[in-house]
Amino acid sequence: MNKARYDAVAITLHWVIALGILAQIGVGWWMASFHLPIHLKFVIYQLHKSVGITILFAVAARVLWRLTHRPPPLPATMPALERKAATGAHHLLYLAMLAIPFTGWAVVSLSPYNIPTVLYGLLPWPDLPWLSALADKAAIEPWAEDAHAWLAYGALGLVGLHALAALRHHFLLRDGMLRRMLPLFKE
Ligand code: HEM
Ligand code: HEM
Repeated sequence: MNKARYDAVAITLHWVIALGILAQIGVGWWMASFHLPIHLKFVIYQLHKSVGITILFAVAARVLWRLTHRPPPLPATMPALERKAATGAHHLLYLAMLAIPFTGWAVVSLSPYNIPTVLYGLLPWPDLPWLSALADKAAIEPWAEDAHAWLAYGALGLVGLHALAALRHHFLLRDGMLRRMLPLFKE
């Protein structure tokens, strides 16, 4: 069994971002699907935007960390096709981690209501300048909303496959793949 592990920074960022994205999908679905009283709606939307921008920063840090730190090698027993599938899925997950918050940011930048984003009620956050300056924002906003929703729900499917693959490695193949991404499991 390969005993190399991801380092503490990679593990922390993986699980903080994973929990953050799953929570954001739940909250996003709830706030967009039900009619909420206007005060609650405002608070929940601001919280969704604040956590989403925080996740965007965490993802940027994670990408930088990943580019400068080598991950543990995949088990030598892993077939070539599975290696390709795992690497491809990880690339798509990175893409989703960036595209989901950016499309969310695009939605608020295109909104004809011009509601300001104030992170955690403290820090004013700008719109994406080249989008908020467009003349016909209202016509494009639904496209950004659809892209944000499709990417988020699509990522949920991908994460499901990714988690199933991790559980297969843990329970069926028993090659230590899940443990090397878990905190507190040093061998
Ligand atoms: C980082 C991860 C994020 C995830 C996983 C996420 C997920 C979601 C989901 C699932 C919805 C509901 C879509 C629907 O059913 O129509 C939603 C809606 C929304 N999100 Fe996000 N979001 C994220 C980040 C952001 C960010 C950074 C912003 C803005 C700065 C944002 C702004 C919005 C807005 C304004 C809506 C409501 C759109 C509508 O009313 O149709 N989101 N989000
Ligand atoms: C939103 C949720 C998630 C996202 C975005 C995500 C993303 C990723 C990415 C991009 C990697 C590759 C790391 C790298 O080498 O650069 C990875 C690795 C990993 N993830 Fe996740 N993940 C999520 C949830 C989960 C869940 C729920 C599980 C387990 C049930 C899991 C288990 C693992 C494991 C075991 C690895 C290490 C694979 C290896 O050793 O090569 N992930 N994840």
